[in-house]
Amino acid sequence: MDTKIININKENIDEELIMEASSLIKDGKLVAFPTETVYGLGANGLDESAVKGIFNAKGRPQDNPLILHIYNVEQLIPLVKDVSDIALECIKKFWPGPLTMLFKKSNIVPDIITAGLDTVAIRMPNNPIALELIRKSNTPIAAPSANLSGKPSPTSANHVIQDLDGKIDMIIDGGITGVGLESTVLDLSGDVPLILRPGGVTIEDLKEFIPNITQDKGTIIESADITPKSPGQKYRHYAPKAEMIVFDGEIEDIVEGITNRTNELINKGLRVGIMATEETKNNYTLGTVLIVGSRENKESIAANLFNTIRLFDDKNVDIILAEGIESDNIGMAIMNRMMKASGGKIIKV
Ligand code: TXA
Ligand code: MG
Repeated sequence: MDTKIININKENIDEELIMEASSLIKDGKLVAFPTETVYGLGANGLDESAVKGIFNAKGRPQDNPLILHIYNVEQLIPLVKDVSDIALECIKKFWPGPLTMLFKKSNIVPDIITAGLDTVAIRMPNNPIALELIRKSNTPIAAPSANLSGKPSPTSANHVIQDLDGKIDMIIDGGITGVGLESTVLDLSGDVPLILRPGGVTIEDLKEFIPNITQDKGTIIESADITPKSPGQKYRHYAPKAEMIVFDGEIEDIVEGITNRTNELINKGLRVGIMATEETKNNYTLGTVLIVGSRENKESIAANLFNTIRLFDDKNVDIILAEGIESDNIGMAIMNRMMKASGGKIIKV
């Protein structure tokens, strides 16, 4: 299949190009588009066979449900059984934005979207291209991250091209995404409000509205004893080709631990990649050092994390030693992705 790549400037949207993309969506085709978190692989969310195409193109397991993307609150109502007061407050505060919420699904949501669950995940992305595409398509758009299953989520159109060129109908290049990590997934359907995946909206942000909010244990520790509540969290994710180990602790200890381990591994003849930060980069004299961002500005680390993991693939290192980040605010989502990328290999130093 030929994948058409088009450029759209989010500050000045070309309506004709959006029309072209939306007519593909209406025809049951696959269009990758930017959101404020990561690129999504979109299809008409109410068209079962179009949605099947998403699973095929990504190689995604069928038991992993998808998020429906909407452009306004009216579009939410037919998709769900009800909207609780807390959900309504979160909508007012955080939509459009990187918060996905679970609702009891209505009958018009196909089972393939929810993988047979009775809840449906919905979000309103904060990107004008995404919103305009949904509006013109006149349907909720199902969209997982636009990567091959298991790879880091795409934060640029180039990442989408690397993974899906030839497998989908169109890629809208709308520049680099902002947040860089996927949306927070919030489950309000049980007794206790639960974060199933930490993301751009932090637990600190949510606590103001939902004081009793908690976080699913599977998002913090990788362990065979814990089955994450969100089906997607159980798979190995964001994985670089190389093995990855995360060092977590005080910054001096992290630097010392990584330096010692680098020496050992290089002596064994291995090519070592180090994922460092602005504040620590000058401490490393060996290995391939890439700077993921600044500890003073954790948003910069979130924005660059997936791109940095992909860059290590290009550099053909055998092993990546990554600095852990303090897990407050967006740091929680960063550490969750590092845990997944490393398959839970976190060394406390
Ligand atoms: O930022 C994002 O959320 C991006 C952009 C494209 O919007 N999308 C995204 O989709 O990350 P995906 O499919 O890669 O991740 C969706 C996550 C998965 O972990 C999935 O298991 C979970 O949401 N999920 C979806 N529906 C669910 C449901 N009904 N119950 C529990 N978890 C659900
Ligand atoms: Mg994904």
